[in-house]
Formats: sequence, structure tokens, C-alpha cells
Amino acid sequence: MNWFESYESDIRAYSRVYPAVFEKGDNARQTDEEGKEYIDFYAGAGVLNFGHNNPRLIEAVISYLQSGGVLHTLDMMTPPKREFIKAFVQTILEPRGMDYKLQFMGPTGTNAVEAALKLARRVTGRSEVVAFSQGFHGMTLGALACTANEYFRNAAGTPLGMVTHWPFETHDGGGIDSLHTLRALYQNSSSGVEKPAAFIVEVLQAEGGVNLASKAWLQALQQLAHDIGALLIVDDIQSGCGRTGSYFSFEDCGIDPDIITLAKGIGGIGTPMAMNLVKPEHDKHWQPGEHTGTFRGQNLSFVAGREALRYFEDDALMADTRRKGQIMADFLAGIAAQYSDEGFSVRGKGMMQALDVGSGDLAKAIANDCFENGMLFGPCGVGGAVMKLIPPLTIPDDDLHQGLAILGAAVKRQLEA
Ligand SMILES: Cc1ncc(COP(=O)(O)O)c(C=O)c1O
Repeated sequence: MNWFESYESDIRAYSRVYPAVFEKGDNARQTDEEGKEYIDFYAGAGVLNFGHNNPRLIEAVISYLQSGGVLHTLDMMTPPKREFIKAFVQTILEPRGMDYKLQFMGPTGTNAVEAALKLARRVTGRSEVVAFSQGFHGMTLGALACTANEYFRNAAGTPLGMVTHWPFETHDGGGIDSLHTLRALYQNSSSGVEKPAAFIVEVLQAEGGVNLASKAWLQALQQLAHDIGALLIVDDIQSGCGRTGSYFSFEDCGIDPDIITLAKGIGGIGTPMAMNLVKPEHDKHWQPGEHTGTFRGQNLSFVAGREALRYFEDDALMADTRRKGQIMADFLAGIAAQYSDEGFSVRGKGMMQALDVGSGDLAKAIANDCFENGMLFGPCGVGGAVMKLIPPLTIPDDDLHQGLAILGAAVKRQLEA
């Protein structure tokens, strides 16, 4: 009996792409129940920045479990929550001169986006939001309205309103001129275009195909938002928590978002958690308990997440992330050069690197080949043509090189078959 096929909903997705029953995990390796090992270049779609079963995090969680510490407490105060807040403020916010309130909500990324949209609408009294082409922000209706992908949008079963999609910088029609066009529309009281409550943007679009916005474009976007009284929401759910070689994806961009959405990696060990960083003047617009939820801050996630924050007490992990990101980028550039007739391109920042092979069928064939040979990655972007690599930031060099070699051999086999 295949219990998954017989009883699990047809909605299941990753289990179709990677048809193995995964049993164990150790840093960048996952082992299925047949004992076959895979080098994980997908890392829970950006959740496992510190690897599977990171021993430091596991130890902290086990010791908390053995201590009889409370696990579920709604959003009540607990020592792990205090320690997490304190460590986040002292390790991440204060050294960067950032002043934000920490809002916990239901534990997935889409919950964080919903809360951000709701607050922006409350603060401004406006309903429209601007999101960008190929952006991905989640599956609940408000977040889904901001998600651009037609396949996901079609599943809504209801019109998705109150969001205007505008070209992301690197897409056709995008760029700073296109922001000038928006500005002209907002300035013209007879343009028929309403000023939005917020702009929501991924600095490094992940699911949308690994597209990186420039500092100049982000600054122009922020200026536009400020000038028309709208909020800037940066969705750092996949690109934050160290993925790009700094804690936030935008640290070198000179922007100061009104709200930053975080999820995935902040729970450290893979247990769910989501958190928005909200400028105090906006946070004041919430009334106590107005945006509630049963699972707002799991104590196990606070314990593991606090432990993970130790990685940011110095620059060692981030320097290593930038170094390994360069190894990945160079390797992919080598493939693109080797098959220059194919028109492949390489994009990314830190340890989110991608090879755009221009064909969803080819990317899928390469992903299947890699799976057969013990390496996991997930295609993304329009038509699934972009091979996105996001291994744990803690991946050992040997595994990094071995995983890339499996990928290189798969590309060769599929192209030269
Ligand atoms: C940038 C971004 N925002 C939001 C989400 C939604 O997060 P979740 O799947 O945890 O709801 C994702 C998930 O991939 C994401 O990449």
C-alpha cells in the first residue's frame, strides 16, 4: 500500500518531484528509508539555512524539552520568547541601527505577509497594494493576490483584488523609468490610478526565478513610497536570515523598509515560525489582539531560533556564505560558458544562485537526473526554467563540490543525450 498516493490529497507536490521517503537528515544530507543519500540544494525551500539537525540547535531543543519547559503558550510571555527577542534585538537590530517592533503571527510566511498587508492598509486607510511581476508572497488570499504566478492564482476560486502588479526591475517594462511612470500616474489626480497602501517587494525574488533588484531601483521605489505616503514592505521570507551573505537581503542597498516579513529560517531548526519587523510608528496602529492566532511563537522555534542567532554574533558564517556563494556562481558560469550556444544565464546573491536554462522541460529533466544521482534542487521561475540552488549555509565544502559535480554531470547528460 502506498499510503501517500492512496490517501494524501492530490495537492501534494514535492513528494511527486522527489519520490522517496526521507527518513534522516544531517546538515546538507538527507537519507531516504532505503538508505540512499541526497545532497540537499533545496533546504526546505530556504528553511534549513543552518542544515538538517544542526547539533547546536538540536542540543538546545533537547535540553529545553528535558527541562519541562512549556511548549505551547499562545502569545504569552515565556523565557525562550524573551531570550529570542533579546538576542534578535542585540544581535541583529542594534548593530545595524534598526528600530523595529517584533510581531509574531501564525507560523508560516503567508501569515506574515497577511499581517503586513493588513497593517499597511490600516495605517494608510488605503486598500490598493502594488506587487511586482514574478513576485511570490504566499497562498492565503491576501498574499496570493500579491503572488504573480498564474498557476497559483487560478487555484483561488475567487477574484484576487486590491493588488496592482507592476514590472519588477529586471523584467520587460521594468526599471527606474517604469517607477517614474507610476509616479506620474499617482501625481495625476485624473489618471484613474489610486495611491496604494504599500509596495511589497522581494529584493531577491526567489520562487520567481532568482531576480535581483539593484540598489538604485530599490532606493527609487522607497522614495516613491515615501512621497505618496505608502509603506515599503520587504518580503525577506526566503532571502533573509543570512541567505544572501548578510542577515537581510537588502543590507547593502541603503533602504529602510517600513515592514520586513520573515519566516522560514528564523525558527532555525525547521520548526515553523514567522515574524514581522514593524516600524514602531506603524505598530501603534494595531489594537491588542486584533490580529491573533493560536500558534504565534512556538517555544521550540524560539529556543532553536535563538541558538541560530549565535551564527550572527560574528561574520564567520556570513563570510563563508559569500565565499561558497561565489563557488556556486563560478561553477554555474562555467556551465553557461561551456554551453554558450544554449543562452544560459547565471543569477543570484550569496548562497541563492541559479542557472536559467530557458526551458522548463530541460530544468525538470536535469532535476530528475540529479535526484537519481543523489542531489536535490528545485526549478523555479516562469515555466520552471530556472535551476535555483539554495543549500544550507553550513554545507561542508566537500558536499558543495560533490553536489555541484552531480549537477554538472546531469546537465551534460541531458544536453548531450
Ligand atoms: C518570498 C516568500 N514570501 C512568502 C512565502 C510564503 O511562505 P509560506 O510558504 O511559509 O507560507 C514564500 C514561500 O516560499 C516566499 O518565498
